[in-house]
Amino acid sequence: MSKVKVAPSLLSADPINLAAEVASVKEAGADLLHLDIMDGHFVPNLTYGPPVAESLHGFGVPLDIHLMVDNPDLIVPLFIPYASYLTVHVEAATHLHRILQSIKDRGVKAGVALNPATPPETISYVMDLVDLVVVMAVNPGWGGQKCLTGMARKVSAVRSMVESSGRHVDIEVDGGVTPKNAGLFVAAGATILVSGSFLFEAPVRRDAIIALRESTAEVP
Ligand code: DX5
Ligand code: ZN
Repeated sequence: MSKVKVAPSLLSADPINLAAEVASVKEAGADLLHLDIMDGHFVPNLTYGPPVAESLHGFGVPLDIHLMVDNPDLIVPLFIPYASYLTVHVEAATHLHRILQSIKDRGVKAGVALNPATPPETISYVMDLVDLVVVMAVNPGWGGQKCLTGMARKVSAVRSMVESSGRHVDIEVDGGVTPKNAGLFVAAGATILVSGSFLFEAPVRRDAIIALRESTAEVP
């Protein structure tokens, strides 16, 4: 079975019971906690601020923080203390190279996310800096959207870029991931699967994580 990591997206968790929700997915075998930060500008929705990240930081599951914000230069420092992975969108960063370097300088893994319409070539000159590429399989803003499975082609293109770089770079797929499409993405080169609505709506979360992993069983 492939060693894909599973990152539950807390956007689909019950917000008034967040501590119990995190404990539940930790117990179910989550590798990372995916925290979606939305600013009401880059995407038309609002989510959490730094105090929530600070509280989640204490649960012992590495935080994978996905910034869907304009002016990420202003927001990155607010989340740096709590992040294991900190991701900015290529579409939102005016000085992408500088911001990725600033994340790495703080000892945090630097991620870059690409919206569905954004070509993979936009990150070719920062491949020496990134630790994570997030391929969006939905247009960001909400959980529970239908997966754009055609993004597997972008995952393959990013995989080729990673191999040419000779570095270890994780590739994450975010949006609408289920056991029906996970194998496609992992076969194309994904190493981390974000799961929001599928996982949090499952009757048994441990079984849902197992189903995601097992759906990639045929992938070497
Ligand atoms: C979308 C977010 C995703 C989302 C994933 O803007 O970045 O992380 O919450 O949730 P599902 O798996 O329901 O698409
Ligand atoms: Zn996300």
